[in-house]
Amino acid sequence: FRLTTVEEFEAATARLLETGAKVGADSWQARVKNQTPHCKFGEEGICCRICTMGPCRITKKAPRGICGCDVHGIVGRNYLKFTAGGSATHSDHGREICHTLYESSADGCYKVKDPEKLVRIAKEWDIETEGKDIYDLAHEVALEGLMEYGKPFGTQRFLKRAPESQQKLWEENELAPHAIDREVSRSLHMAHMGCSSKPEALVKQSIRAGLSDGWGGSMMGTEFSDILFGTPKPIETEANLGVMVEENVNIVVHGHDPSLSEMICEVADSPEMVAYAKEMGAKGITISGVCCTSNEVAMRRGIPMAGNFLQQENVVLTGACEAIVVDVQCIFPALGPLSKCFHTKFITTSPIAQMPDSDFIRFDAHTALEKATQIVKLAIENFKNRKPELVYIPQMKQKATVGYSTEAIVKVLDGVTNSQVDELGTTKPLLQCITSGVLRGAVAMVGCNNPRVRPDLAHIELMKKMLANDIIVIASGCSAQAAAKAGLMDKAAKDICGDGLKRVCELADIPPVLHMGSCVDISRMLVLAATLAKDAGLRISQLPVVGCAPEWMSEKAVSIGNYVIGSGLDTFLGVDPYASGSSEMVEILTNGTRQWCEAAFTVEKDIEKLGDAMMARIEEKRAALGI
Ligand code: SF4
Ligand code: FE2
Repeated sequence: FRLTTVEEFEAATARLLETGAKVGADSWQARVKNQTPHCKFGEEGICCRICTMGPCRITKKAPRGICGCDVHGIVGRNYLKFTAGGSATHSDHGREICHTLYESSADGCYKVKDPEKLVRIAKEWDIETEGKDIYDLAHEVALEGLMEYGKPFGTQRFLKRAPESQQKLWEENELAPHAIDREVSRSLHMAHMGCSSKPEALVKQSIRAGLSDGWGGSMMGTEFSDILFGTPKPIETEANLGVMVEENVNIVVHGHDPSLSEMICEVADSPEMVAYAKEMGAKGITISGVCCTSNEVAMRRGIPMAGNFLQQENVVLTGACEAIVVDVQCIFPALGPLSKCFHTKFITTSPIAQMPDSDFIRFDAHTALEKATQIVKLAIENFKNRKPELVYIPQMKQKATVGYSTEAIVKVLDGVTNSQVDELGTTKPLLQCITSGVLRGAVAMVGCNNPRVRPDLAHIELMKKMLANDIIVIASGCSAQAAAKAGLMDKAAKDICGDGLKRVCELADIPPVLHMGSCVDISRMLVLAATLAKDAGLRISQLPVVGCAPEWMSEKAVSIGNYVIGSGLDTFLGVDPYASGSSEMVEILTNGTRQWCEAAFTVEKDIEKLGDAMMARIEEKRAALGI
């Protein structure tokens, strides 16, 4: 067993870019050069264009905008809008899943695969379950879920999953989110010209809007996807571009919403489609994925992961991609012109994500099967159009065991149970390992890639450092895919861990980095942290657990950051959220938020220092607990 290095990833990319150069393809690497240096005002968050008296930018000579807003107000409003964009996006994804659940039926395209979870959530929400048809119940739960977006009164239902101490903090500090849409629109209202310019108020609302995502929209996205497509269990898969198979029709799914990709997998698996692929000269069909759609189907079906965010152009550059099929979010508009340089079909499917130079095949719950069949056929028929001289798939992949939902983690923990802890089905074995010092703590590694950071390096190096120091890593999103590509989700990676973590991996038969799913599945991490705190009788903020997004880039990631600190977990960032221009905003984000939610951000671009800071925080938490 050997980890794949970032240098090896980069060599493969360089080889693919040579193919790109032959066909005149553009690349993100080239566009980064064209965009450098970046606008300094933008980087510091000190420009404002929310009214047409501006745009205004803050300098020594001009310390206030035309309306008189100072730099702290401008940075604060920008930060709140940044958050609202992310919260809206995650939550709208959740809403789509609510609608899919609402459309589920015994004879329709979508079925209920985890009725047990459906009943559990119905009971949690005080919905009568006795004697009800499972699809009647699914409709009722979906409708209640949709109400969470616009209900006129009350706060998010899932907040009750948090320990009481956390709920109390939220209530006392007015952080408990109301209806999800209301939090997003309140954010936009507050950030409108002539409303809030007080940084404390703007950050507080950012946390509340974030919490409406984490404990609202995202959590429904996760839970209802589990009801529809099954709650993930450990499953074997592979990661990196080498999962694409030259002799096969390659369909790459990309985006975030599993409704599309699940149906594509269903169809591509059918004997008729495989036979059709053979008729068209291929040996079979390979589905692989990019970004979170990939995480969704990897977690539930073991579909291999071709790569993460900054590898999306690479899959087309292989020359062996018959179709890249996308739903929503994190899709480069560059895929349109890029796919035109090859035979690849770039297929958009959602009215939310429409792009030039794509084939738009509109996907919805009623016609899902029909549309998925159309897409798979299109890909198969495109196999003959490949240009063999352009085909090159880097033969690089690693084995990975994925599928660690909170439920699955609790289950594997039963394997670690020893004489002192004999209760099954709780997180107590993990707590026991932490208390005894066998494990020092846990880090949740999340988020994207960003060309500002050498792609994947921060994720992988930080994880290696944590593992060597007996800190277990849970991961999601593109961070999880970086880990899988490197080999850190292979059970054999236990050998690079400290003795304590290695022992835990052996006893529980797990890899040292646990794949918890997509970005909306960070809600799984919230539930895990809440369960750990409850089982330990502690507040979440007392746990030796931190969050880290070293290469984050999107508005969604800002929303996540806000709900993670809002839930009591310190969060370590490798990229600044355009806030450095205001000393007051920096102080609030890195310290001031502690008074409301007992956690704050640390921003550090040096990976070594970022890792040291996380370990120091974990040790601080341990010392405070006397363990
Ligand atoms: Fe300038 Fe104020 Fe208008 Fe912003 S809101 S553009 S700071 S005048
Ligand atoms: Fe994602």
